[in-house]
Amino acid sequence: MTILGIESSCDETAAAVIVDGHTMLSNAIASSVDLHTVYGGVVPEIAARSHIELIIPVVEEALNDAKTSWDDIDAIAVTRGPGLGGSLLVGVMTARTLAITKNKPLYGINHVMAHPFASFITMTKLENYALPEQQPEYPMLSLIVSGGHTQLVLFRSAKDYELLGQTTDDAVGEAFDKVAKIIGLPYPGGPNVSKTALAGDPSAIKLPIAKTTGEYDFSFSGLKTAVLRATQHLCGKDFTFPSYQLSALLSESQKANIAASFERTAIDALTRKTKKAYDAYQPKSIVVAGGVAANRLLREQLKDALPLPVVFPDIKLCTDNAAMIAALAYQMITAGAKPDDPYTLSTDTSLSM
Ligand code: KG4
Ligand code: ZN
Repeated sequence: MTILGIESSCDETAAAVIVDGHTMLSNAIASSVDLHTVYGGVVPEIAARSHIELIIPVVEEALNDAKTSWDDIDAIAVTRGPGLGGSLLVGVMTARTLAITKNKPLYGINHVMAHPFASFITMTKLENYALPEQQPEYPMLSLIVSGGHTQLVLFRSAKDYELLGQTTDDAVGEAFDKVAKIIGLPYPGGPNVSKTALAGDPSAIKLPIAKTTGEYDFSFSGLKTAVLRATQHLCGKDFTFPSYQLSALLSESQKANIAASFERTAIDALTRKTKKAYDAYQPKSIVVAGGVAANRLLREQLKDALPLPVVFPDIKLCTDNAAMIAALAYQMITAGAKPDDPYTLSTDTSLSM
């Protein structure tokens, strides 16, 4: 079964062709990230306009790269949420139109849930992808860590899953992005904080790991505030001083120490809860997914903490892509999911699991 995946929930316009949920024939991605850098974050209107310009060329690129014609496509899968309203609408309306005009079954997909399914892709002729040798086995414990989500999910199949815990406030990627702003690093913050942290001392600044009522929940908003207070303290300023002017007062080594201390605390929190969930549920596989899965320290710490090999998708499949959307659709179809109505499939900006 050959599935065309389409993704447009945030600032990446993406389309991919996946065969039988494991072979990636193409993975086309156009990002509007550069257009947002000057604003320090994604501007929804700019993202939506950019999707409108890019979506047809990106779908064509995915089909051309895959050397696939419409006759070969058995189904279309599209992200229907969560995400930015205008951005989601472009992808869903494009997919609905294609499903109707090309007469293909259409599947609306949850973007967050799709992230771990990037690890089901084990084969490709595309260059420069490091893929797992075999597909993860169920029950699969997934740590989903992105700019909008921090969740621990236990999948018994693509249709039978349990949300064990999630963030009660900020997502971990969002915390990385906010800390980047405090110390004056450009958007997207995560990779820049991580790079800056390499030169710093992770024990330079004491930062708290938040206690949560849910056993597997996370909380990062207090950590972000603690970073702000520590930065004010280092600069000899109090809360009345404009926070966007703080970074100009920091030395490079202070910035590195803040980045390293924050990174270690945030990654410690993720590692502890994942280990706890592993101990309680004894899954057969562990998959880490979402943009923050690219983080070097997270990869190291989880490998050390867990007795099973932890599966990380290739970095290019950790951030937003359409291959994971098609991969999840395949797993859902084999688990018995029915197609959506192409005349009515709606977007849902806060779609939950
Ligand atoms: O999954 P993703 O591409 O987009 C969604 O949020 O859905 O994740 C983007 C997030 C951003 O917050 C970015 O700062 C973070 O992933 N990120 C990282 C790293 N690379 C990306 N965070 C920490 N370390 C990294 N190396
Ligand atoms: Zn994402």
